[in-house]
Amino acid sequence: MPKKTLPAEVPAKLLRVATRVMKNAHAPYSKFRVGAAILLTNGKIFSGCNVENASYGMTNCAERTAIFTAVAQLGPKIEIRAVSVVNEQGVPCSPCGACRQVIYEFGPDATIFFQGAKGPKQAHITELLPEGFRLE
Ligand code: THU
Repeated sequence: MPKKTLPAEVPAKLLRVATRVMKNAHAPYSKFRVGAAILLTNGKIFSGCNVENASYGMTNCAERTAIFTAVAQLGPKIEIRAVSVVNEQGVPCSPCGACRQVIYEFGPDATIFFQGAKGPKQAHITELLPEGFRLE
């Protein structure tokens, strides 16, 4: 899998967008607000926050909100180039397993920026999700 380099300004730009949308989170149960921003290969940026539910399992993570918003706007041919995830508490938070699989569906060469245990981190989607599932 190719690992393309990203323009230097991308992480900071995505961080700004993700931080802004994080404020819209609906997180009354966990009190853990999360924001995500995605950069597509066409240069467009979409964002999303986590949306929780009283029936906890219905919760949608910030990453999937951003990706589903992009698909709803542009259709299924989008390709994700990079993803940024932030949380209000500044604690380590990488995309959950379900979100990794959804990122992989639309971004098999995506780079993910997130807060790791030792500070800001970046990883290729195939490092976070080895052997992601594909139906083709
Ligand atoms: N959450 C996200 O939105 N993204 C992540 O990467 C990790 C977890 C949300 C789901 C839930 O609303 C809250 O954080 C606590 O798990």
